[in-house]
Amino acid sequence: MDLTSFPIEGLIAGQTALVTGAARGIGRATALYLARAGADVGVSDLDQAGAERVADEVRRLGRKAVAIRADVASDQDRRAMLAAVEAELGPLDILVNNAGIMQVVDIFDLTEADWDRMLAINAKAVFFMCQLVLPGMIARRRGAIVSLASAAGKAATGTKYLHYNVSKAAVIAMTKTLSQEVARHGVRVNCVCPGIIDTDMWALIDREQGQRMMGLAEREWMNQRLAAVPMGRPGSPEEVARVILFLASPLASYMTGQAINITGGWITY
Ligand SMILES: NC(=O)c1ccc[n+]([C@@H]2O[C@H](COP(=O)([O-])OP(=O)(O)OC[C@H]3O[C@@H](n4cnc5c(N)ncnc54)[C@H](O)[C@@H]3O)[C@@H](O)[C@H]2O)c1
Repeated sequence: MDLTSFPIEGLIAGQTALVTGAARGIGRATALYLARAGADVGVSDLDQAGAERVADEVRRLGRKAVAIRADVASDQDRRAMLAAVEAELGPLDILVNNAGIMQVVDIFDLTEADWDRMLAINAKAVFFMCQLVLPGMIARRRGAIVSLASAAGKAATGTKYLHYNVSKAAVIAMTKTLSQEVARHGVRVNCVCPGIIDTDMWALIDREQGQRMMGLAEREWMNQRLAAVPMGRPGSPEEVARVILFLASPLASYMTGQAINITGGWITY
């Protein structure tokens, strides 16, 4: 079945979505899936040119888009980002907290500055984005948040990015708590836990850990890690984006507080 042309049009017709870190990778694929399913999309990223390219792709799908340069770790940028999206596209229905960073560093070399930067972008920013958008969603009794956690937030999938693992466990924990708070107001909060997804982020892990630290050839580290994955291959950004779309859509109307694995069978809890 050709999933790129699978009919999803109208699933979230007329809704307004905001995807952070949407200039490439999983964020870009998600912005395009949400647009194909009928949403207008705020495309935000540190990389303005990349965000503009993806906003153009959204427009070519027949939806409205606004590209915003924003650092999710900045309170000022977060507020400006939401204001720009709501001014151009209308009240927000769907937030996808996708922006995130990875850093490969030995546990005994990890500094406080590394820890603070990782937690600020991958965890703190996710909570404060939720805190920013939830009052409007609650008032309208409508909204869905999907955040990017990771298999690394559930299992010890790698020892060279302990602070990343901690940041993703934090996303799972805040998803659970927030979902309980807002469920009765018609708002759902979920997260996804991808495993090995073939993006620039995994290229960085392969380069830093496989090639630099272990002296392996390109993609050899990724291939070694794939031995633990029952499906034996990495996932694509689109395979993550489809689950995000499902969780954001009315198809998942009775799901909240969940951390859904997308790992090719690697993680089963
Ligand atoms: N690739 C994987 O295997 C994998 C697995 C599990 C979870 N994830 C998570 O999925 C999300 C997307 O990952 P990806 O693989 O597409 O990564 P990526 O590195 O390809 O893309 C991340 C995007 O986020 C943007 N970004 C980074 N810091 C930002 C900031 N402070 N403010 C705004 N934008 C910022 C980058 O510019 C980039 O466009 C991340 O949260 C990541 O942790 C990825």
